[in-house]
Amino acid sequence: MIKYDFSGRVAIVTGAGGGMGLALTEKLLAAGASVLGIDLKDKPTSLEEGANMTYAQGDLCDEAFVAKAVVDAHAKFGRIDYLANIAGVLMFGKDVSLMDIDMDVWDRVMDINLKSMVHTTRAAVPYMKQAGGGAMVHFGTIQCLRGDAKPQDAYVASKSAVIAMSKSIAMQFADQNIRSNVIHPGVTLTPMQERWSDEDKKAMADYVPMKRVGRPEDLADAALYLLSDASSYVTGIDLIVDGGLMLKY
Ligand SMILES: NC(=O)c1ccc[n+]([C@@H]2O[C@H](COP(=O)([O-])OP(=O)(O)OC[C@H]3O[C@@H](n4cnc5c(N)ncnc54)[C@H](O)[C@@H]3O)[C@@H](O)[C@H]2O)c1
Repeated sequence: MIKYDFSGRVAIVTGAGGGMGLALTEKLLAAGASVLGIDLKDKPTSLEEGANMTYAQGDLCDEAFVAKAVVDAHAKFGRIDYLANIAGVLMFGKDVSLMDIDMDVWDRVMDINLKSMVHTTRAAVPYMKQAGGGAMVHFGTIQCLRGDAKPQDAYVASKSAVIAMSKSIAMQFADQNIRSNVIHPGVTLTPMQERWSDEDKKAMADYVPMKRVGRPEDLADAALYLLSDASSYVTGIDLIVDGGLMLKY
């Protein structure tokens, strides 16, 4: 059993109202960190606001909202060490081939999956510099690593740009001890995948070499590693967390 100690450290987690973001928020709190969780959704009932937890409900595409949430968290907690960009959207049925996609859908997906990452990073980096370093993890998808017969072009384009941005951030701030890495989840059972029937879940589990779909906790554990000092010399990488699914492509 791996035990992390994040006492005295402060993290920003986007998508804290969803599957993986909530799992990471809970694990960070359990390991002693203070957390600013950001999401469009209402605060999950399992999260209690208090001395070590703030929940900011709003749209990550609104830069002023993001900046204020981060400034307020810094004022409350005294420092910012980590940023986990987990919020994301896949507009099933609307996100299709570039040949047919409604460009308003394209723009919204780009704003949520990519531009929001710019907003949070711009707000957090000055405080990470003040703290003498920091770590970020951004969520991509294994879909970026292959083609797709049923394209979701805005999703994969936005997530591919997240990879490029993460590497650029890693390079820009490496000498200030600020690390930036990407996690590529495989198929994971979260609210994003609510559309799956029991049959779908079973078929997917059978297809994954490890014979199960991912749990939000699997991804949260990988994020804990990439934020923690256990990965203090790891930056600019993409970590695939998919039960071996990419072995099949
Ligand atoms: N679940 C999977 O199978 C899977 C696979 C590959 C990649 N991912 C990626 O992992 C990340 C987490 O996914 P998840 O499965 O936990 O999804 P989820 O839908 O459970 O959580 C995503 C959260 O982001 C929030 N969000 C969306 N747009 C927002 C906005 N504009 N402002 C603020 N919050 C916003 C949502 O409200 C939601 O709570 C996403 O980036 C997703 O693309 C998921």
